[in-house]
Amino acid sequence: MKRGALLSVLACAFAAVIWAANGDDNLVPPRREVYGNGRIFDISHRYQPEMPEWESNDGIGQFLWLPKSMKNGSLANNSEMKFPTHTGTHVDAPGHVFDHYFHAGFDVDTLDLDILNGPAMLVDVPRDSNITAQVMKSLNIPRGVIRVLFRTLNTDRRLMFQKEWDSSYVGFTADGAKWLVENTDIKLVGIDYLSVASYDYLIPSHLVFLKDREIILVEGLKLDDVPAGLYSVHCLPLRLAGAEGSPIRCILIKN
Ligand SMILES: *[C@@H]1O[C@H](CO)[C@@H](O)[C@H](O)[C@H]1NC(C)=O
Ligand SMILES: *[C@@H]1O[C@H](CO)[C@@H](O)[C@H](O)[C@H]1NC(C)=O
Ligand SMILES: *[C@@H]1O[C@H](CO)[C@@H](O)[C@H](O)[C@H]1NC(C)=O
Repeated sequence: MKRGALLSVLACAFAAVIWAANGDDNLVPPRREVYGNGRIFDISHRYQPEMPEWESNDGIGQFLWLPKSMKNGSLANNSEMKFPTHTGTHVDAPGHVFDHYFHAGFDVDTLDLDILNGPAMLVDVPRDSNITAQVMKSLNIPRGVIRVLFRTLNTDRRLMFQKEWDSSYVGFTADGAKWLVENTDIKLVGIDYLSVASYDYLIPSHLVFLKDREIILVEGLKLDDVPAGLYSVHCLPLRLAGAEGSPIRCILIKN
């Protein structure tokens, strides 16, 4: 290599080092809830140690480790994670409450992306009740609506932002679930705490929803600061073969 060329390579390398060093000082990554000038709403919760865990007071705790780090001589940082598949914003597959579906392989990888993506309605549920048949009836959700996200008192109480799990969350009673199955075309049911079923009807409501393997349940949605109305929803679970639950990233796009 000619001396001039060598010098310019060295100069470039030097400039890159200076640039990287300066850049590091004011690197602040953006954390957004809304994108595209208010058009795209992120309705998934951020995974962090204080996120509530089912029937626990301590949150999910440490779920992320860095077994390979550049500080310790590795070529790159490589983290590892561990948490229950029904953590945070997540989806339930039929195998969650039906053993024969579990054994037959109705896992999250078999869920229909056509149901998980498409026109959706965000509705406000009266704040003084769980979602009973009477409440479902009063919502007057028209036939033909396939995807509904139910915003409840859980959002007002900011339950998903509280480390302590709370059994008094709002969800579907068994008769509410039955009413939905029998009187609407809803195939995607979304809710704003860790279970679509109220605690008193935990298993009965899940059984009603998942029995026919037609309805997909998305739980732990982040629905605050999104106007009620019509959107396009996009939800994508991980392709976890053999798992009856999975974290899911969901967004709403304004029509
Ligand atoms: C991860 O990698 C960055 C460089 O990209 C390095 O500065 C940092 O020290 C590493 N973090 C840890 C915890 O090793
Ligand atoms: C680096 O290795 C040391 C010693 O094994 C360990 O205590 C430390 O936590 C490691 N640091 C990271 C960032 O992995
Ligand atoms: C909903 O039901 C739960 C028990 O499953 C109860 O603790 C809670 O108070 C009820 N919420 C409302 C608003 O009625």
